[in-house]
Amino acid sequence: MAGPAATAEPRVVLSARGLGKDFAGFTAVNGVDLDVHHARIHALIGPNGAGKTTVFNLLTKFLQPTRGQITLLGQDITRTPPDKVARMGLVRSFQISAVFPHLSVRENVKVALQRPAGLATQFWLPLSSLDRLDARADELIEQLGLARWRDHRAADLSYGRKRVLEIATTLALEPEVLLLDEPMAGMGQEDVQMVAEIIRNVATERAVLMVEHNLNVVADICDHVTVLQRGEIIARGDYATVSNDPRVRTAYMGSEA
Ligand SMILES: Nc1ncnc2c1ncn2[C@@H]1O[C@H](COP(=O)(O)OP(=O)(O)O)[C@@H](O)[C@H]1O
Ligand SMILES: [Mg+2]
Repeated sequence: MAGPAATAEPRVVLSARGLGKDFAGFTAVNGVDLDVHHARIHALIGPNGAGKTTVFNLLTKFLQPTRGQITLLGQDITRTPPDKVARMGLVRSFQISAVFPHLSVRENVKVALQRPAGLATQFWLPLSSLDRLDARADELIEQLGLARWRDHRAADLSYGRKRVLEIATTLALEPEVLLLDEPMAGMGQEDVQMVAEIIRNVATERAVLMVEHNLNVVADICDHVTVLQRGEIIARGDYATVSNDPRVRTAYMGSEA
């Protein structure tokens, strides 16, 4: 037996308690409790219309919750505006729209890196800070397996690599928690494998919360799984636990099983 430290979960970085959202009398999300841990991948799954995207919008404060409380890094963010929440370290990946097609991979990452550092607001820069940007950009590019495509235009990348580049620009903000809404959507098997590997790599340094329909990916890379149905949690645990839960099996029957 290893000591208790070997089995203890890393710290909770994002949590929700009793989270709920009503739209004009329709309850889209109700009573959702969630704990997201540093260096873990947490999947939010459930049939279409279960409320997954709404939960994401509540956590990032794009939507104001009707009920409940959200805590990020020990601070109550239930009433914090979305731009502040993003600066505090909770960042959602916004697909390809965040990528400039005519710029190279490296230029895209550098543009993204200028935001958090506040460099864009300065009209001159010591050469050393530009060098530092180059070094950090190349580090991110290397980490995300894009080194071979560093000088390629974003527009010329495969669909899967565009998504990876988009994740790279998100990581430039150095988020503590990265939210990914269906990162593998529309991808072929090869790209799914590549992106899964990259998400695993990215999660060594931060928490990842992802909505994912591909249950093979969930089984492969996710440490925690929360299952939503009609806005409420019906199961939670590791993949083996939730996939054997009779309520989960019933919820998926006829829709995705
Ligand atoms: N802005 C909105 N106004 C009204 N109903 C909404 C709104 N957003 C989502 N809903 C409803 O809330 C439910 C959950 O939607 P959503 O969170 O998108 O589910 P999922 O992402 O799991 O497919 C659905 O019934 C959807 O129609
Ligand atoms: Mg959705």
